[in-house]
Amino acid sequence: MSIHIEENLFSLETKNTLYQMMKDPYGQLLHLWYGKKTDQNMDYLINSNEINYTGVLYESQHDRSYSNDILPFELPVSGHGDFRISALSIELPEGSADLDLRIKEVIPKDHKEPLNGLPYSHDGKNEKAEAMDIVLEDHQAAIEVILHYSVFYETDVIARSVEVINHNEKAIRIRRIFPISLDFQEQKFDLIHFYGRHVMERQFEREPISHGIKNISSSRAMSSHQHNPALILASPNADELSGPCYGNLLMYSGSFAGLVEKDQIDQIRLLLGMNPDHFSWTLESNERFQSPEGLMSYSEDGFSTLSHNFHHVIEDHVMRGRFAKEAKPVLLNSWEAAYFTFDGLSILNLARETKELGADLLVLDDGWFGYRNNDYTSLGDWQVNEEKLQMPLEMLVRQVHQMGLKFGLWIEPEMVSEDSDLYRKHPEWAMVIPSRKPLVARSQLVLDMANPEVVNYLYDLFSKIIRDTHLDYIKWDFNRSPDPLYSSVLPANRQSEVSHRFVLGTYNLLERLTHEFPDVLFEGCAGGGGRFDAGMLYYTPQIWCSDDTDAHERTKIQYGTSFFYPIRSVGSHVSAIPNHQTRRKISLNDRKIAASPGTFGYELNPAELEWSEKRDIEKQIIEYKRRQPLIFDGNYYRLSNPFEDHAAAWMFVDKNQDKALVQGMFYRFISNYPGRKVVLAGLDPDKKYEVTYSSFPLSSHGRFEEENESAPAKAIFSGQALMTGGIRVQTSMNDDAGFELELESLN
Ligand code: GLA
Repeated sequence: MSIHIEENLFSLETKNTLYQMMKDPYGQLLHLWYGKKTDQNMDYLINSNEINYTGVLYESQHDRSYSNDILPFELPVSGHGDFRISALSIELPEGSADLDLRIKEVIPKDHKEPLNGLPYSHDGKNEKAEAMDIVLEDHQAAIEVILHYSVFYETDVIARSVEVINHNEKAIRIRRIFPISLDFQEQKFDLIHFYGRHVMERQFEREPISHGIKNISSSRAMSSHQHNPALILASPNADELSGPCYGNLLMYSGSFAGLVEKDQIDQIRLLLGMNPDHFSWTLESNERFQSPEGLMSYSEDGFSTLSHNFHHVIEDHVMRGRFAKEAKPVLLNSWEAAYFTFDGLSILNLARETKELGADLLVLDDGWFGYRNNDYTSLGDWQVNEEKLQMPLEMLVRQVHQMGLKFGLWIEPEMVSEDSDLYRKHPEWAMVIPSRKPLVARSQLVLDMANPEVVNYLYDLFSKIIRDTHLDYIKWDFNRSPDPLYSSVLPANRQSEVSHRFVLGTYNLLERLTHEFPDVLFEGCAGGGGRFDAGMLYYTPQIWCSDDTDAHERTKIQYGTSFFYPIRSVGSHVSAIPNHQTRRKISLNDRKIAASPGTFGYELNPAELEWSEKRDIEKQIIEYKRRQPLIFDGNYYRLSNPFEDHAAAWMFVDKNQDKALVQGMFYRFISNYPGRKVVLAGLDPDKKYEVTYSSFPLSSHGRFEEENESAPAKAIFSGQALMTGGIRVQTSMNDDAGFELELESLN
C-alpha cells in the first residue's frame, strides 16, 4: 500500500519518496513534505512564527501566527490571504475570485479513473497505479475541487490532476488551473528548464532561484520549440549522480506555464499547468472541468535517477500500444532526400535503395498531395497527386511492400493552405477572425480543431487514407502555432476556451486514429520538436526530435530532451553533408554516433552516395539493430554537459549491468593533446568489463588509425575504475569527432 489515510494526515509513498499532506485545524489542506522518505509525521515543520501584518483566517483571528500568506498549501488558490502565485483561480458568480477551500472528504480508490479526453498515466504491464481523491469544497460558493492522485510506487512517480465541479446555480469561470503545485519551506534551489527555437529545441539552462516570480511558458497552443513543459528544481549541489532534485512534467501539448516564486521568507513555490494567459473556461451549473495531469518525481541521487524515473513512467504508464515496447523500424525519410521534387518512379528507386541498405521503412514526406510542389499550397487537399506520382498511391505502396519494405506518409492534419480547395470551400473552418486578414506562417493557416465538425471530417479523411493505402506509419506534423485563437463555432465570451479546445480536438482525432490503427506507428512532429511532450507521447510513441540534423547541434538538443523523455521516443536520423541546416561536414561514422540515441534512420538520398558510404550505412544499420535493445531498454546516463564541457558523452547500461555502450563527440580538436577522458556511470563496480573501441581502433603505439580495418582494440577494466578514474578515448583529428566504446562484463 502506498496510500495512507490517517485522520488528518494523508501520505503517498513510493519506493524512495514520501509525499505528505495534512488537514489543518480549520479544514484547509496543507502540503507537509515531498522528498526522501522519513519515518514520521512532518507537521512539526509548519511555520508558526508570527509574520507582521499578514491576513489570517477569520476563525483564527487571535492567532496571528497562523497566516495563509506563508503556510504551505497543497492547492494554493487565489485570494483568502495567500498572495503568492495561485494554482487555482475561479471567478465566482458575484465576480470575486476569493476561494475558500476546505476538505470535504478523502477517498482511496481501488483503481485509477481515466481522464476524459486527455492523456493520462495508466496502469502498466508490471505496475498498477494506486489512486486517491481529495475532495475540497467552497461550501458557500457551491464549488467542489477534486485532487486526483495516482502513485507509481516502483517508478517513484506521483501524478496529480485537478477537477472542478460547479454545483452553483450560476456559471463560474476558471481563470487558472495548475495540476502541479509544490510548496517548499526555506530551501535553496536551482531551476533547470529547456528553452529553444526551431532547429534548436530543449537547450539546457540552470539558474539559481531568486526572489520574485520566474515564468517559463508557452502561449502558442502547443508545448512549443521555445520552452518545454518540464522543470527541475535541484539543490545547488545536485549533479548527475548525487543530490536532491525534483522533476515536474506536464502531460499536455498546448499552452502551459511553469512558475516559480521565492517569497518574502525565502519559501519556494512551483506551479506547472495550463497557461493562464488567453485562457478562461466558463463552467455552467453542474458542469465539470478536468485539468491535464502532471507527473512528479524526486531523486536523492541526482539527475540520472530522476531521468530514469521519467523514462520508466513514460514507457510503462504513458505510451500505449505495441510500439511503446517493441523494436522500432529503421527508416529512410524522403524529406532531405528529395524535398518536393519526386515522382512515383524516383520514390520507388528510393525504396529499392532503402531496402538494399537494410532499413525497414520508407517514409514519403511532404509533397504527395494536392498541388504541393512547394510549401505555399494544398494543405487540406489530401488527395493524392497522381499527376505528379504518375501512378496511384496504392500501386506505389503495393510495390514498396512487395520489396519487403514498410511504407509511411507525412501528413499535417491540423493545417490548411490559403491556396487550397478546402479553404475555398470552408473558410470558416480556419482560425481566422471574420473581417480581419489571417495571420500566416509558412504560408499556412490552422484549422479550427475546437469545431467538432472539422475533427470528424479529418477523422473520416485520414482513416480512409490509412485504410485504403495500407500504411504502416504516419508522420504527424504541425508546423505552426495557432494564431489567432478564434473559433467560428464559439460565442464571444467563450473565445478564451479556444486554446484548450484546440488541443482537446487534436487529442480526440489522435485517439480515434491511433485506436483504430494499432498496427500503424504514429510519429509526432511539429517543425521538428515543437510538440515534444508527454501528452503527445501518449498517442505517438516517437517524436521527430528536431529539424536540425547536424550531428554537432543534435547532441545538445538530444541532451536536453533526455532529461525527461525516453530515448526510445526520440526520432533521430543521419543526414547528408554538408548538413542542410548548418553546412557542417561531419563524418558518416560520427553522424551515426549522434543519431544512435534514438529511433535511428536516414534523411538522405542513397543514390548520391559513394559505394563505400552505402556499404558503411549497411553496417551501421546492422550494428544499430543489434544495439537497439540496449539503447531502448537500458538505463541512459549523461556523462558530460555539452553546454559546459565542449563535449557530449552518454552511455547505456543494460538492467543486469553486463553490457554497455558509451558514445560521444568532442566538439573541438586541440593539437598535440593526448586524447580525452570520460568517467562512466551505471556499471557494477565489482564486475570486470571488456571494453571494445569499436570506432577508432588503437594501434600498437597507442594512436588511433583511421584507416585501420583490423580487429577493434580491446582492453579490460573494472567497473569501479571506469566509474572513478574513467577511461581515455581516442578520436579522429578534427572538430566534432565522435567516439564509441562497447562494454561487456566478464563475470
Ligand atoms: C517540417 C518537418 C520536416 C518535414 C517538413 C515538410 O519542417 O519537421 O521534417 O516533414 O515539415 O514540410
